[in-house]
Amino acid sequence: MSTSNTLELIEFRQQCQQRVDQRLGAALDAEIVSVTLLEAMRYACLGGGKRIRPVLAYASALAVGGELAAADNAAAAIELIHSYSLVHDDLPAMDDDDLRRGKPTVHKAFDEATAILVGDALQSLAFQILSTEADALGANNRLAMVQLLSQAAGATGMVGGQSLDFEAVGVKLSIQQLEQMHSLKTGALIRCAVLLGGMSCGSSSNSQMSALASYADNIGLAFQVQDDILDVVGDTSQLGKPQGSDSDKNKPTYVSLLGPDKAKALANSLAEKAIAALQGFPTSADPLRELAAFVVSRLH
Ligand code: IPE
Ligand code: IPE
Ligand code: MG
Ligand code: MG
Ligand code: MG
Repeated sequence: MSTSNTLELIEFRQQCQQRVDQRLGAALDAEIVSVTLLEAMRYACLGGGKRIRPVLAYASALAVGGELAAADNAAAAIELIHSYSLVHDDLPAMDDDDLRRGKPTVHKAFDEATAILVGDALQSLAFQILSTEADALGANNRLAMVQLLSQAAGATGMVGGQSLDFEAVGVKLSIQQLEQMHSLKTGALIRCAVLLGGMSCGSSSNSQMSALASYADNIGLAFQVQDDILDVVGDTSQLGKPQGSDSDKNKPTYVSLLGPDKAKALANSLAEKAIAALQGFPTSADPLRELAAFVVSRLH
């Protein structure tokens, strides 16, 4: 990627981050009676995180000729599900991590019961936002988006992958099993972010959606391969979460299975495949193309 593209991507990401943060901030300022719950929900969602899933949703809306505003609800909904998944992922019963997004994890800053409830509440809020009528999208399109998010978030997606992850502690998985686990626990929400972005303007064609799905499958897996790599080569203060968590917990990862060099080569080849899937798109898909390169070159 050239320097000018890098700068453009930084600006694009900032613009998307501001949009989704505004939507999240408004949603997390509602009539939530429990002051502790509201404070903990805001703590979990605001003031941290790369917002890569919202950015992908916005980039996808642009790719199919839509406007950023069309993807606001989808972007916020996917980030709420992701934030909830992190709060639960860090719990002592799961990865038992103390640091997230550069701050103590929710169960450390508050307590475990609050962290469980925060996750529950963020998940419901995601569906509330996605099903809210905010534009001319139409009820059928919105319903399809709700269905897609429910499949990606639940037992057929992220939660299913988290269950495989939990069962895999101390187990040597085959490469196919590892790919399935990663594609579910991380890939499913990333795929969903890209597809929701494409659906949010209501006019994307079937061929555009299948190209976006292929892009998203590759980038979703690449994202978790890079996450595994960063767990080994990253730096806790830059990551904002504990480096070495996977090996401490004896988790199978792409690095433990393939070694760092082959894992890196795999991440790069997945990013190339993702970009190739966008062949038929005009320059409006350039942010998606640049995000593919970012996903595998990021340091946090
Ligand atoms: C971390 O996701 C968890 C994974 C699914 C690998 P991110 O790296 O997107 O975390 P934030 O949102 O930037 O904190
Ligand atoms: C998390 O995978 C996937 C989720 C569904 C949250 P990890 O456990 O590798 O994520 P980090 O490294 O803690 O962010
Ligand atoms: Mg985990
Ligand atoms: Mg974890
Ligand atoms: Mg990880």
